[in-house]
Amino acid sequence: MQDRVDIFDTSLRDGEQAAGSRLDVREKLDIAHQLARLNVDIIEAGFPQSSPQDFEAVHALCSEIDGPVICALSRAVLADIDRCGAALKAGKRTRIHTGLGVSDIHVMGKFGDAKYGKTMAEKKARLLKMAVAAVRHAKGFTPDVEFYAEDSGRADRAFLFEVLQGVIEAGAIVLNIPDTTGYAVPEQYGALIREIRTKVPGADKVTLSAHCHNDLGMAVANSLAAVLNGARQVEGTINGIGERAGNAAIEEVVMALRTRRDVFNVDTRINAKEFYRTSRMVAEAMHMSVPPNKAIIGSNAFAHSSGIHVDGVLKQRATYEIMSPDDVGMGESRVVLTARTGHHGLKHRLEKLGHRLTDSELDRVYQRFLIVADKKREVFDEDLTAIMRDEIHPVPETFRLESLQTMGGTGTIPTATVRIRQGEKVHQQAACGDGPIDAAYSAISLATGITVKLTGYDIRAISAGTEAMGEVTVRLEPKKGSAVTGRGASTDIIEASAKAYLDGLNRIVAERG
Ligand code: KIV
Ligand code: ZN
Repeated sequence: MQDRVDIFDTSLRDGEQAAGSRLDVREKLDIAHQLARLNVDIIEAGFPQSSPQDFEAVHALCSEIDGPVICALSRAVLADIDRCGAALKAGKRTRIHTGLGVSDIHVMGKFGDAKYGKTMAEKKARLLKMAVAAVRHAKGFTPDVEFYAEDSGRADRAFLFEVLQGVIEAGAIVLNIPDTTGYAVPEQYGALIREIRTKVPGADKVTLSAHCHNDLGMAVANSLAAVLNGARQVEGTINGIGERAGNAAIEEVVMALRTRRDVFNVDTRINAKEFYRTSRMVAEAMHMSVPPNKAIIGSNAFAHSSGIHVDGVLKQRATYEIMSPDDVGMGESRVVLTARTGHHGLKHRLEKLGHRLTDSELDRVYQRFLIVADKKREVFDEDLTAIMRDEIHPVPETFRLESLQTMGGTGTIPTATVRIRQGEKVHQQAACGDGPIDAAYSAISLATGITVKLTGYDIRAISAGTEAMGEVTVRLEPKKGSAVTGRGASTDIIEASAKAYLDGLNRIVAERG
């Protein structure tokens, strides 16, 4: 049996069926180009009979996308298949994916008596004929025809096997065995694939495809069980998007096959370094953000936080990582600094920021770090820079805010009056502005005699409640010299803003020497 598994991406068809999602043709094309860079084997581009947009998307992908086979979905209905044929006309390598429901629940629930017969047996006989006719008809458009036996996961085996044998004889070269409702468990789904391969005449000559849904969170596990039992195509979507709880996440399937090659003994053609980019592109286009803890491509997938883990990873990455973030295009592992991060993790991050500290300096910084980490979920590099500034390189306070008075509100001109001490001298100035903060900044510039350009302003709460401390960070560009950041904290955000501005000015004065 071949030792390669084909990856069939249905993000643009089954994935797009996720509630609340719709991709236009341009978005489908952009994603398809990225899927081609990812090197998926097949892209299912849409269901042409379902809407003019789907027809157009399949048509556009056929003209623009090189590399992967472009596939169109249809029911086992001749008119649907004609629409697929027309949409795929311009394609070099194309596939028609046709099929129908085979479980007793589908047979009795979806196919009405008038057209398909009254009894289960009548309906099944009719459906078998339709399946065979659909495949034969599709073969008139392309040699590459895949048949899906919808709801195989819950189907009666005898009928499923009969249909599969019929469509193999009619020329289907890929048999898709969908667990449409995500009902199967790995042992059972794997056994189903094995039985099909060994019991359905001709099944060992065609490709068996796993198509698993995630209703019980087992789509990836079921797909992998299928591979272990002889499936050589896996269908899935990027980020696992899709109907209800979604489809098998391609990035998880591929990285499991790769990381545990010792178990699966198969390869794919996927260029895994493109996973991260593809994931973000799909998330953005579908307006479905990736949860941080999502396997393989979540923002925390390679983030380490607890002291023991950080220490281990910094000594030897493999202690707590089974893959490298670089393998999936995510750059480096991330050490997330939290209250649980030990000395070693903090020291390592400070060194990366260019700070080499003595043991006693590190102790001092660590104590401040713990205070900040207690208030915040994550301590960022800018926080460390601020801590370093305060603890190790404090800036002389050339100017100190003695008082600040502002006036604002609807129908008034915002004004501010400041008193600033510079050694023995006290400067007092007033100014107007676009708002009280702008007015305060103008008054401070007049009082200190330093004019700068404000190129960044950020405010955030550093404690909870209505009396929360606000912390303001500003970026100031002096006329000469490099830009500086200033910080100030207060329960009054205008005061915090003024303090941040003065902190920045003090820094500029210190750098001038
Ligand atoms: O889940 C399913 O059964 C499907 C088929 C239409 C292939 O998506
Ligand atoms: Zn599906």
